[in-house]
Amino acid sequence: MSHVLLEISGSIALLTINRPDKLNALNGDVVGELACQLAGLEKNLDVRVAIVTGAGEKAFVAGADIAAMSNLTTAEAKHFSEVGHDLAARMEMSRLPLIAAVNGFALGGGCELALACDFIYASDNAKFGQPEVSLGVIPGFGGTQRLARRIGVGRAREWCMTGDIYSAEEALRVGLVNAVVPRPELLERVKATASKIASKGPLAIAACKRVILRGQDQGLDVATELESQAFAQLFGTKDQREGMKAFLEKRTATFEGK
Ligand code: COA
Repeated sequence: MSHVLLEISGSIALLTINRPDKLNALNGDVVGELACQLAGLEKNLDVRVAIVTGAGEKAFVAGADIAAMSNLTTAEAKHFSEVGHDLAARMEMSRLPLIAAVNGFALGGGCELALACDFIYASDNAKFGQPEVSLGVIPGFGGTQRLARRIGVGRAREWCMTGDIYSAEEALRVGLVNAVVPRPELLERVKATASKIASKGPLAIAACKRVILRGQDQGLDVATELESQAFAQLFGTKDQREGMKAFLEKRTATFEGK
């Protein structure tokens, strides 16, 4: 059985983590399949946005697979963590905007997977947290770093040190998620946002993603220089000419990603 389902509809790809009997827990196979699917999508230029969600009613991803991790040696644990970091980096470096549609538990590796997406919409029953300390470990797929960058260092320390589980409303309040949606409407809402993004210039969207990511850890002078360079590079592209011409001609632009 495939652990990651892929459905493409027009310019939008839907990736569904598919291990519902284990609440979509991430083992090596799931992480590998996700990386593989992502690499395939990267090359499919018809696809402009990808959504990541979890199969079943209960979970987005309830964490890294505890059974698979329980007997890891130090070296194996380091490798597993690096595999997770590699996946998160690929997601962040992808030309594709990735939206997490968090439909239930997003704990541990699940919260980290959502954090590696560009932004998160959650269903009203979603639950977030980094409960690794309850297992005697810490987040290993980037949680200590991305959570701190997203919700602030003080809150991230509290989340990671208490291992507490938080509601979707609390995740919204602290800025971890962008929107909370009734469960039955989640995918439609995410798809509507994905369609809007997919209708914009793909080169501009990719540049936007890249500059926000790379600028984040730089001083403002370096970060704004990155922005200037990316801004300038878009001029002369077919998409820039078309986007501005369409505005002046009072019509909708058609972008080719060229
Ligand atoms: N790794 C491996 N298996 C997991 C898992 C994980 N992170 N999370 C859930 N599962 C499995 C359970 O072992 C159970 O399998 P089983 O039916 O073969 O016994 C199945 O998924 C259903 O989970 P269950 O615990 O029965 O569901 P619940 O509704 O009672 O509780 C949670 C849901 C999310 C509160 C609970 O599963 C949990 O605490 N999971 C671990 C969360 C965690 O610590 N994540 C961080 C890991 S680093």
